[in-house]
Amino acid sequence: MPRARPDRACDVLVLGSGIAGLSLAWKAAAFGNVIVLTKKEDSESNTQYAQGGIAAVFGRDDSFDAHERDTLRCGAGLCDAAVVRQVVREGPQRVAELEALGVPFTRTDHGFALGREGGHTRRRIVHAADFTGRAIERTLLGRVRRHARIRVLENHLAVDLLLESRIRHGGRTAARRDTCWGAYAYDRATGRIDPIVAKVTVLATGGCGKVYLYTTNPDVATGDGLAMGYRAGAPVANLEFVQFHPTCLFHPEAKSFLLSEALRGEGAVLRTLDGTRFMPGVHPSAELAPRDVVARAIDREMKRRGEPYVFLDITHRTPALVRKRFPNIVAALRRFGFDLTREPIPVVPAAHYMCGGVRADVRGRTALNGLLAIGEVACTGLHGANRLASNSLLEALVCAHHGAAEAERRVREVARVPRVAAWSRKGTRPPLETGLFDHNWDAVRRVMWDLVGIVRTDQRLAFAARRLALLSEEIENAYHTLRLSPDLIELRNIALVGGLIVESARRRGESRGLHYNADHPRIDRRWTGRSTVLRRRRE
Ligand code: FAD
Ligand code: SIN
Repeated sequence: MPRARPDRACDVLVLGSGIAGLSLAWKAAAFGNVIVLTKKEDSESNTQYAQGGIAAVFGRDDSFDAHERDTLRCGAGLCDAAVVRQVVREGPQRVAELEALGVPFTRTDHGFALGREGGHTRRRIVHAADFTGRAIERTLLGRVRRHARIRVLENHLAVDLLLESRIRHGGRTAARRDTCWGAYAYDRATGRIDPIVAKVTVLATGGCGKVYLYTTNPDVATGDGLAMGYRAGAPVANLEFVQFHPTCLFHPEAKSFLLSEALRGEGAVLRTLDGTRFMPGVHPSAELAPRDVVARAIDREMKRRGEPYVFLDITHRTPALVRKRFPNIVAALRRFGFDLTREPIPVVPAAHYMCGGVRADVRGRTALNGLLAIGEVACTGLHGANRLASNSLLEALVCAHHGAAEAERRVREVARVPRVAAWSRKGTRPPLETGLFDHNWDAVRRVMWDLVGIVRTDQRLAFAARRLALLSEEIENAYHTLRLSPDLIELRNIALVGGLIVESARRRGESRGLHYNADHPRIDRRWTGRSTVLRRRRE
């Protein structure tokens, strides 16, 4: 049988080059050879666009207990309290490590400058002005690119995981737990698909905002890791909890530009088009209520008034303060013809963050041997039914730290890796036309936006399930008969992830946190503490 290329084997294969993947790769290089696979240029990731910052306890008036309480309250009865405790308590150490690596966090004479965001009862967001993600990404990439034991393969898209059951038993195995031995990777430059074999594989592929028509996420966020994990038999959990960010710029030429919640932390308010503030009547914390509350209130106002957006207004703060605190946002808005210091800015909610994911613990361990999941692709129990703002960069750092220790344990334990067959193109042909892919991309994302958005109903979910099942059937057929392309690989993944979100939403017979179903508008206590878990049946 043709074998994997020898230069395509490593101890640790990291899928994804955001904060989670790069942090783990950097630590794993201390004990093994690492390949980081990333589907476009290495900086492209959700991390790169993070604005607000990292939530961690540094304030004099703050405490671990307060950060834990805020996280648990936001998570609405679904957080794992032990995970919350561990992640919150390790935050300051992980942030200090990042600063030591060179991230230029904004400081005052008294320590870190701390921002405020929705759901937080204290100022606790450590940030680098309003381009925190870019500063983190740049620093980590600077380290990783220069490391002799790390190879970054850009423009390589992981297609599917290499499983023991498929390598040795043609898809069937009697073993209780399957084992992951790497992944098949599509090289954009050559169109070839090759196996990359590894003792440990790390899913660090981020989120799935592109499942929705409107999102704050960049194009790479197509839920590939979630889809690969599910197809491999790893349970996925709590996918109904999609976080919609309340304030994405409304402009025909702006694709996914976020206006950070930190603006509301510095006093920005929301107004309808006639200038009326509406959040004070909705929640005691007004604009700083948790995100689900703010996004639903905006959605309600827009629908009630038939208006396409609302305004975010910070014109009452001094221009100097606004320019100093938000240089990135001010500059970006200027390019779209807006002056943040002088005029209210049109905004709409957009899909932002997936709180669920591949079930994993804080060490990244999943149900498969040799497969870790960290960062946004994972569901550790930190976020529950709603993520507290700026807790995700924190979670990625903590889980990458422990994931590296777990990877080391496994690398030392595994004596040899199995032989793996080359990817077979037998029976496939080049596509006759690609227009159908475009149509289905749009169809999946539109179904999700129209029927599985901020407000759901039983009927809409049933309709979405039927539409997605039909689309998935067509897409699966194309996947098995046509020569693969990145478009087709990603389309297959968004269709699968969309379907899983719908199935999770239909199973939860209540409204809780980010999941609001108008037919079951209240929390049902019987669901408290219960995750929605989906698992593919083994062949
Ligand atoms: P990502 O940073 O998304 O990285 C995923 C990587 O995987 C990318 O490199 C991608 O190219 C790669 N990849 C994906 N699929 C494949 C594949 N099939 N093959 C190979 N590579 C693949 N959180 C906060 O805590 N604070 C904030 O201030 C904040 N602001 C945000 C602002 C915006 C606009 C957005 C979109 C998100 C924000 N978030 C914030 C959320 C946070 O940025 C993300 O949750 C976090 O960065 C995820 O990190 P990650 O490493 O898990 O994934
Ligand atoms: C923001 O800056 O508003 C995003 C923060 C987050 O998603 O945690």
